[in-house]
Amino acid sequence: MCGIIGFVGREQAAPILLEGLRQMEYRGYDSAGVAVRSREKGLQVRKSKGRLQVLADLTRGGADLEGCLGIGHTRWATHGEPNDVNAHPHVSSDGRIALVHNGIIENYLEIKEQLLNHGVVFTSDTDTEVVAQLLEFHYKECGSMLEAVGRVLRRIEGSYAFGIICADYPNALIAARKDSPLILGFGENGNFIASDVTAILRHTRDVVYMSDGEIAVLTADSADVFNHEMDPVVKEHSHVDWDAAAAEKGGYPHFMFKEILEQPDAIQKTVAPRIRENRVVLDGFRLTAEEAKNISRIYMIACGSAYHAGIVGKYVWERLLRRPVEVALASEFRYSQPLVDSRTLVIAISQSGETLDTMAALREAKRLGGRTLAVCNVVGSSIAREADDVLYTWAGPEIAVATSKGYSTQLAALDLIGLYLADLLGTVSPAEYGEILTELQRLPDKMRQYLTDYAGAQYFASRYFNHDSIFFIGRNLDYAMGLEGSLKLKEISYIHSEAYASGELKHGTISLIEPGTLVVALGTHAALFDKAMSNVVEVKARGAEVLAVTTETHRERMAKTADAVLSVPETHPLLQPSLGIVPLQLFAYYVALQRGCDIDKPRNLAKSVTVE
Ligand code: G6P
Repeated sequence: MCGIIGFVGREQAAPILLEGLRQMEYRGYDSAGVAVRSREKGLQVRKSKGRLQVLADLTRGGADLEGCLGIGHTRWATHGEPNDVNAHPHVSSDGRIALVHNGIIENYLEIKEQLLNHGVVFTSDTDTEVVAQLLEFHYKECGSMLEAVGRVLRRIEGSYAFGIICADYPNALIAARKDSPLILGFGENGNFIASDVTAILRHTRDVVYMSDGEIAVLTADSADVFNHEMDPVVKEHSHVDWDAAAAEKGGYPHFMFKEILEQPDAIQKTVAPRIRENRVVLDGFRLTAEEAKNISRIYMIACGSAYHAGIVGKYVWERLLRRPVEVALASEFRYSQPLVDSRTLVIAISQSGETLDTMAALREAKRLGGRTLAVCNVVGSSIAREADDVLYTWAGPEIAVATSKGYSTQLAALDLIGLYLADLLGTVSPAEYGEILTELQRLPDKMRQYLTDYAGAQYFASRYFNHDSIFFIGRNLDYAMGLEGSLKLKEISYIHSEAYASGELKHGTISLIEPGTLVVALGTHAALFDKAMSNVVEVKARGAEVLAVTTETHRERMAKTADAVLSVPETHPLLQPSLGIVPLQLFAYYVALQRGCDIDKPRNLAKSVTVE
């Protein structure tokens, strides 16, 4: 989704802005633009629909734009179609104020109406231009940019991260946020604002996370932050551990491929520091046995793949905790008057920590008095900061829109928390606790073992890439895993695919099976292997082509019936999805590759969905 960068310093701003925007390309966008202030030319704005390269060509990599103060933006259209005019930055009518915006201004029509009555002429269809014009209106009224920003923020409703420059303030970069991420970065040659830390990693790892309602004024050497009442706020600086190289492709053809291969290390980093003397020790989450016993209801709330991680988590936790666990789509939960009270534990799962629906659901859970725990990958992200506790997945930066290591580290984190709670509740035997813990630590090696030979996934992708509808079937944890396998495939290859609980086949889906239909049958859950086999026989009898995923132990039996088999090493049944998902990720990847798709930036999708 939209990306913001801003710079004020002692270097030419435009090339820095373009490079920062390039680092955020992965978020998904449809147009891009920059505004730079120069002493001679005032505000210069360049923007264009399409790839960033168009903007880079237009400005000779930024070289054409003089000035050491500027803002840049990649837009993902919400209000107004993607075109040059609707692209950001937006400029006020007098050409003196330029602004970039992430988020949505909900009352923009009402404000626009009032400004139209004052004779303001609009050029775009966006909610953002309304803010630029309103800013000019108040600036003319009060003569102070900071005061004008304050007045605008009191007037607008919705979500926003803003980067603002004004021709009359040659040294000031102004920023403000509410419900949309924005950080300040401090470099040697100047200071930054960014909606995503990867945009500025090459320049600094010294950052400040802005909170909702705050306004910041940056110069080359200073940063002043104010709350919504304009009182100064002292902010804590954070050091970002990620290095710039981790967010680079490093010779791999795609980020997604690199990130699939990084999964063993990512799981190791997530799990290893949390196991001490054969016990789970959670840095960011501590409960007493009494507090754990007091929990009467558990919710997991998330979107997309994180929701699928929650579904795996539900199966695992219900087995371990002997308590009901509900997994809710955050977008549904927030409007469902959820049954949350002080005895409810709510787990918000989010790789980015910025997904707006998950954030809103978390706030609703807090409002109702629930105890909240975030499972996030991005340190300092909004969800991580707002939850009562946070357990980080240490996956490092994930750039491909379709998650892989983000998802698998979420599974590992949920396994850890599940074990921790089961231990407190006394619902897991010491033997099983020990066995799962040992297997959790062995997961990275078992995954590495599979990743030394994944030619099967590549080969079957080349055999099946031209199917136009694919079904995933499985039971229990295999079903949960199938949901994610199917989503991976449709996200990046644009093949229609659905995951079904195998038991439901006879209640409808089986009517869709025709000779040649590809069914990906998942049979890694040992206890239900025979049932999985029966379903394979069932769809084969209707002419389906079956690609099965099972464990090495069951490979031979499966191969007698299925047309093609991929097998993964065996682990504890509750952890099996962590291994089973890898061939599905690779299958999706290679299918998309065969179809010539833009794997890292699939059409219409965004990495972090910061609008409703
Ligand atoms: C987007 C991404 C998905 C991700 C989902 C939730 O749809 O494309 O890969 O699973 O958002 O994101 P989160 O950052 O909250 O885990």
